[in-house]
Amino acid sequence: MKSADIRQAFLSFFEEQGHTIVPSSSLVPDNDPTLLFTNAGMVPFKDVFLGRDPRPYVRATSAQRCVRAGGKHNDLDNVGYTARHHTFFEMLGNFSFGDYFKRDAIRFAWTFLTERLGLPAEKLWVTVHVSDDEAETIWKEEIGIDPERFSRLDEDNFWQMGDTGPCGPSSEIFFDHGPDVFGGPPGSPDEDGDRYIEIWNLVFMQFDRDAAGNLNPLPKPSIDTGMGLERVAAVLQGVHSNYEIDLFQSLLEAAAEIIGHADTTTPSLRVIADHIRSCAFLITDGVLPSNEGRGYVLRRIIRRAIRHGHKLGAREPFFHKLVAALDAEMGEAYPELRKARAQIEKVLLKEEEQFARTLDHGMGLLEAALGELDGDTLPGETVFKLYDTYGFPYDLTADICRERGVTLDETGFQRELEAQRERARAASQFGADYSASVDVEGKTEFTGYERLEDESRVTALIDESGNALAELDEGAKGVVVLDRTPFYGESGGQAGDTGYLEADGVRFQVTDTQKQSGHHLHHGVVVQGRLSVGATLRPRVDASLRAATMRNHSATHLLHEALKRVLGEHVQQKGSLVTADRLRFDFSHFEAMTREQLAEVEAIVNQQVLANADTCIEHMTLDEAKAKGAAALFEAKYGDDVRVLTIGADGFSIELCGGTHVMRSGDIGAFHILAETGIAAGVRRIEAVTGEGALDYFRDQEASLVRIGERLKAKPEQVEERVESLIERNRTLEKELERLKGKLASAAGNDMLADVRDIAGVKVLAKQVEGVSGKELRGLMDQLKNKLGSGILVLGATEGSKVSLIAGVTDDLTSRIRAGDLVNHVAAQVGGKGGGRADMAQAGGSDSGALPGALDSVPGWVSSQLG
Ligand code: ALA
Repeated sequence: MKSADIRQAFLSFFEEQGHTIVPSSSLVPDNDPTLLFTNAGMVPFKDVFLGRDPRPYVRATSAQRCVRAGGKHNDLDNVGYTARHHTFFEMLGNFSFGDYFKRDAIRFAWTFLTERLGLPAEKLWVTVHVSDDEAETIWKEEIGIDPERFSRLDEDNFWQMGDTGPCGPSSEIFFDHGPDVFGGPPGSPDEDGDRYIEIWNLVFMQFDRDAAGNLNPLPKPSIDTGMGLERVAAVLQGVHSNYEIDLFQSLLEAAAEIIGHADTTTPSLRVIADHIRSCAFLITDGVLPSNEGRGYVLRRIIRRAIRHGHKLGAREPFFHKLVAALDAEMGEAYPELRKARAQIEKVLLKEEEQFARTLDHGMGLLEAALGELDGDTLPGETVFKLYDTYGFPYDLTADICRERGVTLDETGFQRELEAQRERARAASQFGADYSASVDVEGKTEFTGYERLEDESRVTALIDESGNALAELDEGAKGVVVLDRTPFYGESGGQAGDTGYLEADGVRFQVTDTQKQSGHHLHHGVVVQGRLSVGATLRPRVDASLRAATMRNHSATHLLHEALKRVLGEHVQQKGSLVTADRLRFDFSHFEAMTREQLAEVEAIVNQQVLANADTCIEHMTLDEAKAKGAAALFEAKYGDDVRVLTIGADGFSIELCGGTHVMRSGDIGAFHILAETGIAAGVRRIEAVTGEGALDYFRDQEASLVRIGERLKAKPEQVEERVESLIERNRTLEKELERLKGKLASAAGNDMLADVRDIAGVKVLAKQVEGVSGKELRGLMDQLKNKLGSGILVLGATEGSKVSLIAGVTDDLTSRIRAGDLVNHVAAQVGGKGGGRADMAQAGGSDSGALPGALDSVPGWVSSQLG
């Protein structure tokens, strides 16, 4: 059975059992600050388990793309060295949200494995949690599992998504690959071998772990299961390693061919084949290599792949070339991957080229460090710095050290590495999670599409440190949660609303509104009175800021479509930020836009504004939205009721959007692009203004033009011409100035020649010059040397107490007197020191009062030198 058939068989089986098939979500979890990547099939359903996100179904099934690199479930370092670990894999899962529980979950799994897939019962092994009598009874008495192939385990049979969130005891099903493969049954000392492979985990979701570590019961016991597609494919295809299944074979062959390394079982080749999957899908889902957060993890995976390629002898960029093979293998099941292919290739190529430079640079640094080495051990800190700051691979450092007979302080390196891992762990918790403090069922009802004021009840209050409170006193900063609110919570790039929550004698100023797990969090400060849970408040959104934000948001949709029409269909939204002041739109495109393209895009948007078409907002199913041609990354998070926004004349732009928008395109007023810049490989950013913002901008520009005109004594329309002629005149004047300066200097030089003295047949000039900077002394010296033909010269200039000196000796005399000695003779008398060549030397000093005397001493000194 091919992997694609297994995926389909799984989804169909559970659909027959009343489950709704939900498409795979993005690898970047939506609105979840506690998680780096989607690391299990249940992630998109987290809030459904917690009772905060009601869905129209209680049974679901999915094939979810997952990445386990960084964070709680991190398999990065195992990849390539076991038969079963991946950074990227597909998890097949069935879910019950308060519907069926242990009995049905176990029965479904057993039926699917033994009847649908036809796996022999005697090859399977089952574990349950030490405390779980109920599951043991079901397995032994209802399913009839052989007690010889059954065990109870502790930690291994308790699954949790992260440090916080849904969790519960689990039951795992293992497949025995047979005595040819090393390894022991679950719970035995050799369990980490590849013989007994866990293929399916059935989690009996019962708790929500909060930040303090407490296990709070979920609203309803639920089911979350996960079966690794690659592992079950290995079983069904009769191979003992995931890397031997159909999905991986073509990737490995492509890698072998591109790198020119024939043995497809080499660990490095497997690492590369694994990593291309996570890298390509992460880029598909909008992650770009960077130095922090998700982008940093992506960069590390890419570099790890490149390093393994290097190890196999690749000296040219190769990694990006694997995208084609991946597309051939998985593009069918994941159209978003196919669509992003060109972008992925470019991002990877760029990263490969950059890393090649890193290698070069790192080599230089390593050479320098080895050159300065005191003793024969390269310190762990240096190795770590090369590795971490410059991305220079540890293995390479080790190889080079070995060649030079230098030992590498591995313990020191490991210590630094551990410290860094600690920092990374702390960083993966990258935002405050308030969910534990909001002990409220359901979601905040959002009423802000229709109104800007409402009547609401306070359901939770949170202080600045995230603790739940009963009351919030005057002057206190904190977060207010309401049962219903017209305040838009930041999402989809649109900034949160600001305004006030009021009651008699009570006023809370809202400075920002955020959304988390379905609750709108009103951040701000109590400016009057005291707030208490249960009290009634009147929320009032700042209407003019909201209106400005809506203009910018609607314009963003028009801009997106205009960019597609001018630049092409490859334009994809990569991020956006819409505030009251301006809009920012990031999109994929590979070069700077030309001025013409920008003007065209701006004109198209303004035409749509002037068309003043009604905005149309409709609710429909995802399939209907797709059929209508709506743009969006289609994901599970949209559920089955999506909001489709049509804006502009004749359905100009159709997108899924949850934001707030103008009623007619004319309400945008005007649209103006402020800037277009590059922000990452293949990603451009446009910043623009609308409405009042655009008018303010035009007004400012016009006022500035009028001011410039006034200074030029020209009307605005004449300014350009006046500036042209000014530039021209300036050029002429500069030329004239140069000419006059030369003339003056030459005249001054002639004057100075009057002071030349003859010392034993040698012409000597020692003179203080005024109004000449230290820099200009050099030019003057050259001139005088030319005029003199043969001679010895010293010039001194002062600026306050500072002295600049220059000495010159014509070539015919440098064998007798050196300019360096001469300048030092003078410098020593003015508190300075200097140096230079035999024919020209400069020095500084700090005692300008001593300069005349010092210069007077020159003829005598020369005379004594000439002897
Ligand atoms: N969520 C469970 C796992 O990832 C099924 O193993």
